[in-house]
Amino acid sequence: MKIRKAVIVAAGLGTRMLPASKVIPKELLPVVDKPALQLVVEEAVASGIEQIILVLNPNRTLGLAHFQPASALESYLQQRGKNDMLEAVRQPTRLAQFVAVWQSEPLGLGHAVLQAREAVGDEPFAVILPDDIFDCERPCLQQLLDISGAATPSVALMRVAERDIPKYGIVAVRAVRPRLYELQGMVEKPRIELAPSDLAIVGRYVLTPDIFDLLAQAQPGAGGEIQLTDGLLALSKKRTMLGYEFEGIRYDLGDRLGYLTAQIGFGLKRPELADNLRVWLEMTLRADGPRGRG
Ligand code: UTP
Repeated sequence: MKIRKAVIVAAGLGTRMLPASKVIPKELLPVVDKPALQLVVEEAVASGIEQIILVLNPNRTLGLAHFQPASALESYLQQRGKNDMLEAVRQPTRLAQFVAVWQSEPLGLGHAVLQAREAVGDEPFAVILPDDIFDCERPCLQQLLDISGAATPSVALMRVAERDIPKYGIVAVRAVRPRLYELQGMVEKPRIELAPSDLAIVGRYVLTPDIFDLLAQAQPGAGGEIQLTDGLLALSKKRTMLGYEFEGIRYDLGDRLGYLTAQIGFGLKRPELADNLRVWLEMTLRADGPRGRG
């Protein structure tokens, strides 16, 4: 069975990126010139997804607007023969079929995924966190689909430095082959000494619809939030779950440093920007070096 639907959760408040995220949802902040949300939709479509289910806060609906026609802007560009720009404005609307579902309060990632239950129905689906963006030769979601197909739930994994362990969901694993693991347990944001490994879950998942009952039964934790990790843990007790250490680079756009490095990483991939950006970086680093050491 093919995975047709991806749930993109974008109803959080993005408090780590305030004040930028005061009015603009952080998922719409650009990476060079494309909103992160568009980048992850493109990744999903490149992985064979046909329908995007956006989980949004009803007071912050700009995420959906980005994938809808903008007729006044399109006529303006058309009248002036600005065809490249017109194409850039229209391209997001053609990527996939879009459906919005609402999460009125940010009651956790698990709660956000649960809001997509009706739209997903009774079929396996992908979950995408749009503040995690990937630079991979084979799209990160495709890498997961290649190892798990539709029948086996799976998560993307990344090794993290010890000091970063308390920021992530960390998994206990049994190695199957290089990069591929069977999940044996997981714990959300553990203390370093209690972490079962240094393998962290990052923002791509393939899930089966039985996760919804488990999320509906999950007990809210601190702040009334329902964690996706709790649902995943319950799912891993019912059926085999896989983890795959993806091949590529991941940027955490929800964090200032991750946001900055993403601009540079993706900027260096753009032929029209790369040379000038590299020169500027080298000059800046040279100028800073001696002072930094002095
Ligand atoms: P994060 O925890 O990174 O996002 O959730 P946040 O809560 O918006 O950010 P901070 O911590 O306040 O800065 C990961 C993803 O899950 C979504 C977020 O929008 C983000 O894309 N999310 C999180 C929801 O949709 N609803 C929630 O209740 C929580």
